[in-house]
Amino acid sequence: MKSITSVLETLFNSHKLNKEDCLVLLSQLDEEGVREQLSAEAVRLRRQYYGDKVFTRGLIEFTNICKNNCFYCGIRRDNANVNRYRLSKQEIMQCCKEGYALGFRTFVLQGGEDGFFTDDVMCNIISEIKAHYPEVAITLSLGEREMESYRRMKQAGADRYLLRHETANEAHYRMLHPDEMKLSNRKSCLYALKELGYQVGAGMMIGSPGQTYECLADDLVFLQELKPHMVGMGPFIPHKDTCFAKEQAGSVELTLAMLSIVRILLPSVLLPATTALGTLDPKGREKGLLAGCNVVMPNLSPVKNRKDYALYDNKICTGDESAQCIKCMTNRVEAAGFHLVSERGDSAAYGDDADFKY
Ligand code: 5AD
Ligand code: FES
Repeated sequence: MKSITSVLETLFNSHKLNKEDCLVLLSQLDEEGVREQLSAEAVRLRRQYYGDKVFTRGLIEFTNICKNNCFYCGIRRDNANVNRYRLSKQEIMQCCKEGYALGFRTFVLQGGEDGFFTDDVMCNIISEIKAHYPEVAITLSLGEREMESYRRMKQAGADRYLLRHETANEAHYRMLHPDEMKLSNRKSCLYALKELGYQVGAGMMIGSPGQTYECLADDLVFLQELKPHMVGMGPFIPHKDTCFAKEQAGSVELTLAMLSIVRILLPSVLLPATTALGTLDPKGREKGLLAGCNVVMPNLSPVKNRKDYALYDNKICTGDESAQCIKCMTNRVEAAGFHLVSERGDSAAYGDDADFKY
């Protein structure tokens, strides 16, 4: 077994780790100086690629209706306590109008897998946003769909797609999802999205029930293989109406270490400091930025719907005070020593020299 010192050397010099190296690193995070070295190198790299910029995305949670039954998720099909909603196209356009005025140049349309939003409906919404705001980037987060569907939405103007793989470990995937969902399908979707020219985001929760260091090592190996432009990672937080109501939340410390490791493995990656991290720790998002994150995603959804998009308990930014998330976020980013910018914020690895950048 390699020593932790030589694993860190491999990581910092080659930006690669095999599964055995990942296991050494994860099991020795508590050795003296390891966490500090990881965060210092992660911040150095994010500065090299992105300076002190933090990109912002306006998150529009446009439907909480979902045909899936993921065991961890608060809006799973079987949760009868959810007040279900869908935003109309007019409501979505209103969110974009407010967001644009606030300086957002990326809108993320996120929702459950809701059959109402067919390709025709989605393409219509995407083209309308692009017609009004040609210079904004549109990110979709609508789960698993057919390649043809992804192709049509790209054609209509979508730029990016977020689809967390949730776990790259087959046995762990089975602990988190009902039988009808398949890890292989999720991975195929991610490769298809990349093939179609989307900037693609994968990712996973940290500390989800049954997750071991081996699962996280599999995630790190998978991320190196996929080379996504974005990686969404936040702590697991139990939701009272799910199978995992009584499970423990993930650890903030481990989430921060994983964020730093991913930044070092994929130096130009777009890495959000997530709402889940901010929910578990009042300074979570600032800590995320200081661990290598370079993106924040304030909520732009209508305040009246926010509490109904609860994937986990005690989610922040759902009360009346949160109508002005952007101001709150600006202050937080500045306090952490970075600068919130009003730009599309494309991945530094997107375009002709994509492979070179890794
Ligand atoms: N805790 C933390 N994150 C969650 N997600 C879903 N449920 C939870 C939970 N209970 C994450 C999933 C999903 C993303 C939109 O939110 O990783 O992909
Ligand atoms: Fe939403 Fe602070 S970012 S209230």
